[in-house]
Amino acid sequence: MRKSDFANPLPHRPAWVEINLIQLRHNLSIISEDMQRHNAQDHAPVRWCAVIKDNAYGHGAVAMARETLLAGASYLAVATLEEAIELQEAKIRAPILIFGERSAQEIEECIRCDFTFFVNDAAQAHHVDQLGRQLEKKAMVHLEIDTGMSRYGVRWTEAWPVLDAIFSCDMIQLEGVMTHFAMSDELDKTFANEQLRRFKEVIGEARSEKLAGKILHTCNTGGYLDLPHAHLDMVRMGILPLGVYPSKVCRRIEGLSPIMSVKTKIAAIKNIEAGDTVGYGMRYRAESPRRIAVLPMGYGDGYPRVRNAGHVLIHGQPAPIIGGNAMDAMMVDITDIPQARIWDEVVVMGKQGDQEIFVHDLAALIGTVSYDVMTKLSIRLPRVYSSSNAPL
Ligand SMILES: Cc1ncc(COP(=O)(O)O)c(C=O)c1O
Repeated sequence: MRKSDFANPLPHRPAWVEINLIQLRHNLSIISEDMQRHNAQDHAPVRWCAVIKDNAYGHGAVAMARETLLAGASYLAVATLEEAIELQEAKIRAPILIFGERSAQEIEECIRCDFTFFVNDAAQAHHVDQLGRQLEKKAMVHLEIDTGMSRYGVRWTEAWPVLDAIFSCDMIQLEGVMTHFAMSDELDKTFANEQLRRFKEVIGEARSEKLAGKILHTCNTGGYLDLPHAHLDMVRMGILPLGVYPSKVCRRIEGLSPIMSVKTKIAAIKNIEAGDTVGYGMRYRAESPRRIAVLPMGYGDGYPRVRNAGHVLIHGQPAPIIGGNAMDAMMVDITDIPQARIWDEVVVMGKQGDQEIFVHDLAALIGTVSYDVMTKLSIRLPRVYSSSNAPL
């Protein structure tokens, strides 16, 4: 049976991700003002590319695309052809850049659909040229220069033969040249600056004549915040509009706040005795009688797999997670929250009262990064968009 076969819409699952659109718009306008201040200092307008790959880090790519374009972004970036097609099917009208490398079949589709993609070697340039001729359509491409990330792109020392190959192809239009920083959000900017030096070695300090009019871009959020001299023609920001910083040490912009909360409700309450154990592997044993709540959310929803670590918020108070969380459930100790009742709202990530659980707190539980936590939140958790600051 499919969802649409039911007579009424399905009731909302009591476990969901909430995206606060008011805060998002606030974040976007603050970032936009910040960019204008930088532009005024640099005298050159910097374009804004909204990085909305992996469903905008779990926030919903179409909603994020619409909002960021309204706020001044003029380019979108994703990581897969499917992600680009989703935006096009949603009638998002903006150029779409697909990061990474594309297979021959994907390239054909990119040319047909007018997506911008990367050409990073000479043989590939000639192949794209040929495809363009067959399709009678020019391919719009960027070149990635690998200046030290050792991921995608041509090594900076070998970039010009590839650029020359691209220039020799009539059916390719080179729109931009970029690189990607490995460590732009750390205090020590030595390597980021070395990467920038390598990039400039290729493009020429004063930009080679051949690259006149091309969009040169290097910065992710860390670079945008802390390397104003590297902004060049465009910055690619993913995490900042979400109200999350890439690290603890980069520049802060007053007023930015996370837009994502993860919530659930208490599905069962029980009293356990001293000596009782909780959860798989019996990882928690009560030393005294405890009142515990069962929450219908587990690692299958993307909550990190933890054992006796982390907490949630109930009635504005922390309730520690006890035992190991299961795929679909976790147990929390509510002995100190006597007013807690079945179906009371629980904040797993976000704010309740004057307490807040940040994505970085969840990441720290398993020694990972906030990007990982956000992108792992399963599609099983419906995304609910709120346009008011009142609780849903
Ligand atoms: C090539 C590239 N540019 C920009 C970004 C955006 O990074 P951030 O979310 O830190 O702004 C990413 C994301 O990983 C990326 O892969």
